[in-house]
Amino acid sequence: MNPTPHIKTEGTSKFQIGEIRNNTIHYDFEKIKTYLNIKGHMLFGKNFRIHKEDEKLIFKLCSYFIQDHHSCAQMGIDTSKGLLLTGPVGCGKTSLMKLLLHLAPHKTNYSLVPTRNIIFNFNTSGFEVLEKYNQTKNYCFDDLGVEPTGSHYAKECNVMGEILLSRYDLFTQTSQSHSLSFSQSQSHSKTHITTNLNVDEIEKKYGNRVRSRLKQMMNVIAYDSNSIDKRQ
Ligand SMILES: Nc1ncnc2c1ncn2[C@@H]1O[C@H](COP(=O)(O)OP(=O)(O)O)[C@@H](O)[C@H]1O
Ligand SMILES: [Mg+2]
Repeated sequence: MNPTPHIKTEGTSKFQIGEIRNNTIHYDFEKIKTYLNIKGHMLFGKNFRIHKEDEKLIFKLCSYFIQDHHSCAQMGIDTSKGLLLTGPVGCGKTSLMKLLLHLAPHKTNYSLVPTRNIIFNFNTSGFEVLEKYNQTKNYCFDDLGVEPTGSHYAKECNVMGEILLSRYDLFTQTSQSHSLSFSQSQSHSKTHITTNLNVDEIEKKYGNRVRSRLKQMMNVIAYDSNSIDKRQ
């Protein structure tokens, strides 16, 4: 285990994003922003920067990623659920979900998988692909809603709809079996989503059952609908 998760090392540089007091890390959002700007540069190129108008949303997400239960509760975020990050095309959802993985990997971690890839895999390999995501591991399904309907040997399947329903069962099972454990939020199978769809559009595409379950297992975090497209 990393004994100093509040000190990030990038090459020969070190970034301290918080302080340890009484065995607890107290994170500093200003320092986190500095680190995210630099790490974002490294990952996405020199045009990357934390935009002023996104700071409120990024603060919410950072509080979640470091699992600051107190701040999250104040903002109506349940740290034991996943995130559903919604916003217009190009506003930076995928980039943020990649970037924030570096913030506190001892607290929040997942595999980010484009939904399109899942359908391509389904079309070639069939129903075993559904099993793959029915495991107690955390996932972020990137760009929900853009994927075509799955079709394996002419058998059509609403692949993402099915996967999300099984992720819900997994989420409720793990939350029940671990309800007595102290590190409850750690033991959940969490599912995160990025999407350009709003909740109504998700319902139209995947049905009411999926919508209501997503709301139970995820916190909806929305970019402003006027957010600018950051593509160059
Ligand atoms: N904060 C940012 N500053 C500069 N460019 C960004 C920022 N966030 C994202 N981008 C760039 O904008 C484009 C769209 O970002 P992306 O994360 O794919 O958006 P979305 O997933 O919301 O459609 C990418 O080329 C990305 O590198
Ligand atoms: Mg995206």
